[in-house]
Amino acid sequence: MIIRPETSHDIPQIHRVVERAFSQSELGHHGEAELVDTLRASCDQSLSLVAELDGSIVGHALFTRATLDNGQDPPRIGMGMAPVSVLPDRQQGGVGSQLIRDGIQRLRTEKVPFVIVLGHPSYYPRFGFLQASTLGVRSDFPDVPDDHFMIHPMDSDPSRLSGIARYHDTFYPAG
Ligand SMILES: CC(C)(COP(=O)(O)OP(=O)(O)OC[C@H]1O[C@@H](n2cnc3c(N)ncnc32)[C@H](O)[C@@H]1OP(=O)(O)O)[C@@H](O)C(=O)NCCC(=O)NCCS
Repeated sequence: MIIRPETSHDIPQIHRVVERAFSQSELGHHGEAELVDTLRASCDQSLSLVAELDGSIVGHALFTRATLDNGQDPPRIGMGMAPVSVLPDRQQGGVGSQLIRDGIQRLRTEKVPFVIVLGHPSYYPRFGFLQASTLGVRSDFPDVPDDHFMIHPMDSDPSRLSGIARYHDTFYPAG
C-alpha cells in the first residue's frame, strides 16, 4: 500500500471513499464527502493523503488549518484532522493507522506545532493524541465530550499550547 498526497485525478474516487466509509458506519454519512470537496476549494493550508492499493484508493485522511488562541498572544496555526475514511471492506486492516501516522510525520517535518482531532478516545491516543483539556486546550464546538477532543502536541514547548482550538470555518454551520 502506498500513502501519498492526493492529485486532481483522485478527487472523484476520494469522494466515493469518504461517502462509503461514513454511509456504512455507525455515524452515518452527513455530508462528509461534500465537506472534503468544500475544504479542498476553500482551505489554503491542508494535507490530503490517500491510501492506494493495487491502483485504487482505499482510504483518505484530510488535515486542514486550525488555530489555537489563548486570548493574549497571536493565535498559533496548526492542523485539524478530519475526516479520516477507509472503505468498509478495508477497515480493521491498518489503513487508517497508516494514513494518520504518515500525516502526522509529514506535519511534524513541516514543524506544524499541533494537530487536533475530535474522535473516539480509544483510537487516537495510540498515535500520540492526548485529551486536549490536560494541556488547557478546549474546542469551540459546543457540547463536545471532554475526552473526545484531543491534541497531538508537536511544539518543542507544549506549555505554549493552550486556549480555544478552532477548525477551519467550513466546519461550522453558517450564521
Ligand atoms: C475510523 C477509521 C478511519 C479507522 O480506519 P481503519 O483502517 O479501520 O483502522 P485501523 O485498522 O488502522 O485500526 C483499527 C482500530 O481502530 C478502531 N476503530 C475503528 N473505528 C473506530 C471508531 N469509530 N471508534 C473507536 N475505535 C475505532 C478499531 O476498534 C481498531 O482498534 P484495535 O486496533 O484496538 O482493535 C475507519 O474505521 C472508518 O473509515 N470509519 C468510518 C468513518 C469514521 O468514523 N471516521 C472517523 C471519524 S472522522
